[in-house]
Amino acid sequence: MATIAILGLGAMGQALAARLLTQGHAVTVWNRTRGKAMALAAKGAREAASAAEAVAASDIAVLCVLDYAAAAAVIDDAAPALAGRTLVNLTNGTPAQARAAAEHAAGLEAAYLDGGIMATPPMIGGEHALILYSGSKTTFDAHAATLEGLGTARYLGADAGLASLHDLALLSGMYGLFAGFFQATALVDSEGIGAGEFLKLLVPWMTAMMGELPGYAEKIDSGDHRVGVVSGLGMQTASLGNILTAISEQGVATDLLAPMLDLFRRRLGPGTADEDISGVFELIRRTRAGD
Ligand SMILES: NC(=O)c1ccc[n+]([C@@H]2O[C@H](COP(=O)([O-])OP(=O)(O)OC[C@H]3O[C@@H](n4cnc5c(N)ncnc54)[C@H](OP(=O)(O)O)[C@@H]3O)[C@@H](O)[C@H]2O)c1
Repeated sequence: MATIAILGLGAMGQALAARLLTQGHAVTVWNRTRGKAMALAAKGAREAASAAEAVAASDIAVLCVLDYAAAAAVIDDAAPALAGRTLVNLTNGTPAQARAAAEHAAGLEAAYLDGGIMATPPMIGGEHALILYSGSKTTFDAHAATLEGLGTARYLGADAGLASLHDLALLSGMYGLFAGFFQATALVDSEGIGAGEFLKLLVPWMTAMMGELPGYAEKIDSGDHRVGVVSGLGMQTASLGNILTAISEQGVATDLLAPMLDLFRRRLGPGTADEDISGVFELIRRTRAGD
């Protein structure tokens, strides 16, 4: 069993602490605003008066606050106690912020892991909870068994920014899905069809369309968007144009889908009508040296 500090008792920090207590770890908790530790104390947590005190009582400090500005403030408060300990930062942020935090921790002689939580608080410890980690492999291996208790622990590499990169990329996919749902539902809603009723058609359709992704991925990885094309960019630009015309005619806002048609039209040119729509990836990807 490990001795663990949980720094930050928002909805997520509470869930992490509760799960670790259930698993029998010795948990010390701290939150900027007092009064949030009562339920955890009833389950056996000890409340520390400062972040430094919580860290000093533990081998591992799990930091989960609103953002990296808040995380930096807590790390500064806890700095005197961090040397020789492990800081696991599960605060949501950017890859650049994660890399800067890793450097800061190294300067404080703390081992550092960055993490991205792909779960809501009630999911913590459950079978669908996934937490992405990056940073020192030795540190991850040393604490993997404890971290597995919070959810499937997936280690992505030594670059501390990798967990955040994958976290934000997965969320980008999620928001794209939600955007499609909102746009499609607004279209049928214009004729009085309810969202719940429409879902019966939409979910199987979207599930079937997920089957297109491996083909797109192959084209993106190879850079060749002309292999095995069954629905070309020319046809799909006309089709998406029809969709946006219909959306406008129905009095529905086009905001969520219009940027995709702009990309299709920008990509469409002499010789690209027969390539796949995966070609639009070339318009949004970062240009690499040699391209
Ligand atoms: N909730 C989710 O569904 C979810 C899912 C995945 C990832 N996350 C990530 O988990 C992290 C925590 O989320 P949450 O849901 O727990 O948020 P929350 O319920 O809003 O709690 C925010 C926490 O941050 C603390 N905080 C804010 N500013 C601070 C500062 N300047 N100094 C010290 N502490 C500060 C708050 O302390 P006070 O109580 O003193 O205000 C509180 O403990 C976020 O990065 C979030 O993106 C959340």
